[in-house]
Amino acid sequence: MSDTLVAVASDHAGFALKRLLCAELEVLGYRVLDLGTDSEDSVDYPDFGMALGEAIAGGRASRGVVVCGTGIGISIAANRNPAVRAALCHDTTSARLCREHNDANVLALGARLVGEEVARDCLRVFLSTAFAGGRHQRRVDKLTPGA
Ligand code: RB5
Repeated sequence: MSDTLVAVASDHAGFALKRLLCAELEVLGYRVLDLGTDSEDSVDYPDFGMALGEAIAGGRASRGVVVCGTGIGISIAANRNPAVRAALCHDTTSARLCREHNDANVLALGARLVGEEVARDCLRVFLSTAFAGGRHQRRVDKLTPGA
């Protein structure tokens, strides 16, 4: 699995921000696995959050980004998959700490709640911050069945 491949998914409310983030990922040198949706026509966020979860669980990508109106529904859907640790972030501090403390592998954003610049900054910080390990490893292990 390539660490330069990032899976992305959104519902209709997150479509425009997803498109912007796909462009940003490419600028940053990542390849994008875009799991939809492909327009602003109304769809159901669980379908896309779960598709992202399956892509992570199946090893198609090691990291992902999900977007819906609030980021809540699609993060709940992605987190139904035990392979996913999706973190809903509204600021760069959350984006940094979800990596350092939680080893989050999916960034969730609410397109109706955060501006484009904040979303871009969250993405950059999420991708460039390493897991701190140490005492956090034990806690993350407790989130992972069979670990
Ligand atoms: C769609 O209207 C909206 O409910 C959805 O994008 C999301 O915010 C749900 O959590």
